[in-house]
Amino acid sequence: MLKKYFIKTYGCQMNVYDSHRMAKLLENEGYEKTDCQQDADIVLFNTCHIREKAAEKLFSDLGRALIIKNEREEKKLDTIIGVTGCVVQAEDGEILKRAPYVDFALGPLTYHKLPEVLHDILQKKKEHIVDSSFPVESKFDFLPQNEACGGCSFLAVQEGCNNFCTYCVVPYTRGVEYSRPVEDVIKEAKRLVETGTLEINLLGQNVNSYHGEDENGKERNLAYLLYKMAEIDGLKRLRYTTSYPADMTDELIACHKNIDILMPYLHLPVQSGSNKILKLMNRRHTREAYIEIVQKLKKANPKLEMSSDFIVGFPGETDEDFEQTLTLVEKIGYIQAFSFKYSKRPGTPAATMENQVAEKVKKERLDILQKRLFEMQTAFNLSCEGKVFEVLFEQTGRHKGQLIGRTPYMQNVHAQAQIDVLGQIRKVKILSSTTNSLEGKVVL
Ligand code: SAH
Ligand code: SF4
Ligand code: F3S
Repeated sequence: MLKKYFIKTYGCQMNVYDSHRMAKLLENEGYEKTDCQQDADIVLFNTCHIREKAAEKLFSDLGRALIIKNEREEKKLDTIIGVTGCVVQAEDGEILKRAPYVDFALGPLTYHKLPEVLHDILQKKKEHIVDSSFPVESKFDFLPQNEACGGCSFLAVQEGCNNFCTYCVVPYTRGVEYSRPVEDVIKEAKRLVETGTLEINLLGQNVNSYHGEDENGKERNLAYLLYKMAEIDGLKRLRYTTSYPADMTDELIACHKNIDILMPYLHLPVQSGSNKILKLMNRRHTREAYIEIVQKLKKANPKLEMSSDFIVGFPGETDEDFEQTLTLVEKIGYIQAFSFKYSKRPGTPAATMENQVAEKVKKERLDILQKRLFEMQTAFNLSCEGKVFEVLFEQTGRHKGQLIGRTPYMQNVHAQAQIDVLGQIRKVKILSSTTNSLEGKVVL
């Protein structure tokens, strides 16, 4: 019987991509996927350190994993428990101290060593393995070819971040910015399309500062990469995420006019509408500059809609500063957004700043902001009723015969459709809507 693996993924799309690559590594080693942790011979937690809650979740899940490991031991079954991702980079020692039964921990830049590490553990050569180095080699050169696992695929083109926003752990967990060479990206993209992908989302923590080398060693930017991607036969949809406002060049904005497969939806985190707070956050953009970028983007493609991330209750944020965030939201009009209470992260400059905001105030502000953002999202979804959208179907729904797909605007659409429509694009007429999803009927 094949050995089984179980992966739980926390955090951002980069982690989803990494988990997909690790799954392939394990399958090459003869493991088979399971969604049931009790059945797994190897359990992997691919972790996130962005907010306190995300990191704490790992330790409660590890506690549960130990119980399952002990239950399996009674049935004479071995279980290997591994932790990967950003928590490893941030607190590798802490993991083994709090959960000494963890067999190995690999950082986000060293997971290509997974087969080697497993081998050492299975041969009982080493008891615990921790590797959270920032290696000189790129993991991408050591990973097996990527393959699609559906109609939509992520493709990491850039890793790390040099921006050092004062609240953020990413520069410490993923290291300095690194861009993959253009040829590597195109090769992986072609392979994804050949294996069934219709939509590719190019990923990077600061993807619009991409600066990979072409085959002649010349540095190329994201706009160049997008034009190259658009030449790939069979690719129907293109996205990139996440972008940093100060790196939205005019050349990149022009892509939204010139590339028809580039979807009319852009996630462009602003974090706050107050220039004072943006400065304290070490963001290299002002409120005014952000508004101007969005105006240029909408001029390039009038159908373009925006999403964003917001942090409320950053140290020093007054009622007036928060009001500025609310007025910016009104000015831009987001169709989706993620908003968070500021969370103190050890080792980041903001954690020791004066004027930390009380939890109660953070909560009040988050409630106000989210209420308005949800209203906007609901209104946009409502405006879609009666319209026809191209929907890329990605998974089966809860009800019989139901599939779930996405519009160009990333809205979830539920529709009755044959199973062979999975991984395909169909025209769907939207019949009804809620805040979080649309219901439609396949018309073509
Ligand atoms: N690289 C991306 C996303 C980084 S993490 C970017 O720069 O936009 C995703 C989001 O988490 C951020 O945009 C931010 O809104 C939020 N975030 C990061 N650190 C946080 C913290 N310490 N507390 C609360 N939210 C945080
Ligand atoms: Fe974090 Fe800022 Fe880099 Fe985004 S741009 S990953 S928020 S440091
Ligand atoms: Fe979390 Fe690491 Fe992504 S900290 S948000 S998983 S880069």
